[in-house]
Amino acid sequence: MSHRVAVLAGDGVGPEVVAEARRAVDALGIAVEWAELPWGSAWYHEHGRMMPEDWAEQLSGCRAVLLGAIGDPSVPDHVSLWGSILELRQRLDLWANLRPCRLLPGVPGPLAGREAGDFDVLFVRENTEGEYAGVGGRSHRGLPGEVGVEVSVFTRAGCERVIRLAFECAAQRRGILTSATKSNASRFGYVLWDEVAAGIAGEFPSVRYERVLVDALAARMVRSPDSLDVVVASNLFADILTDLGAALQGGMGMAASANVAPGTSEIGIFEPVHGSAPDIAGQGIANPAGAIWSAVLMLEHLGEADAAARLLHALEDVCRDGPRTRDAGGTATTVEVGDAVVAALATAQAAT
Ligand code: IPM
Ligand code: MN
Repeated sequence: MSHRVAVLAGDGVGPEVVAEARRAVDALGIAVEWAELPWGSAWYHEHGRMMPEDWAEQLSGCRAVLLGAIGDPSVPDHVSLWGSILELRQRLDLWANLRPCRLLPGVPGPLAGREAGDFDVLFVRENTEGEYAGVGGRSHRGLPGEVGVEVSVFTRAGCERVIRLAFECAAQRRGILTSATKSNASRFGYVLWDEVAAGIAGEFPSVRYERVLVDALAARMVRSPDSLDVVVASNLFADILTDLGAALQGGMGMAASANVAPGTSEIGIFEPVHGSAPDIAGQGIANPAGAIWSAVLMLEHLGEADAAARLLHALEDVCRDGPRTRDAGGTATTVEVGDAVVAALATAQAAT
């Protein structure tokens, strides 16, 4: 059976890195039918919106979207993002964002004395509510008394589903779940989150559950990253922590993510964490590793576990042996790294 995958290459370096992820998937020899979506900031300038009104219909029949990046200096970010990825996450109810942060062998990490194996954390990010609920408003515009209100929304059901998923992930990994909130200062939503987490902990006796404050966790990620296994946090907190995580795994170019809703949605969106990087767009030097790793997560979602494992091994081989792009300490181009991944897949195939 062939998988129908929508490709939303988007803006900036998105098309460059997605092209390499696609090429790597095609080299695996599994049947994928790609459906290209021309949406993004250029499309916005033509049509006055980031995506067509019938975007949901256009995605029907696809179990995955491979997304490059959205964002261009010519469109205000809150317009481009609420018109695309944030809308997609919320309207498709993709309530979990899985972000594996692992320092791969060969990739230079910034922490002295730490090497691959010392940093392997799966972040489970709440993806549709919390600080990104989209609730709020502005009034008295332009006047000295102008007001801007941004409301964080936490629901019991929303906390439960993402925290339970995080416990399940921890039970499959090293059995430690760290839940990060800021319930010493914010008394309502994060306290609800903590209560829900403590309740679910009882269902998972094999998992060591700990509750930490997000500010202390930021420091701990640097001081003792090896003490962490799975981290679950609200939308904004996990957004911030995963940029730190990306830096610790060798840079934004390495970081992958999966927007999913296990058990409640068939479709998932797979995207590198780095964004559109307009400063280097068009130069052919963006690191495709995060996009290729996102394709690994996509293949797992599609039930192609063997292909996913082969692609991850190929990516690991290339990270270890090179070539690498300059953000990862090398001089290679995006396409050269993509070529090397395809070659590593062929070498592994020939050896079997
Ligand atoms: C991410 C990005 C997005 C987010 C932006 C582009 C809205 O930073 O995926 O981490 O904050 O979720
Ligand atoms: Mn982010």
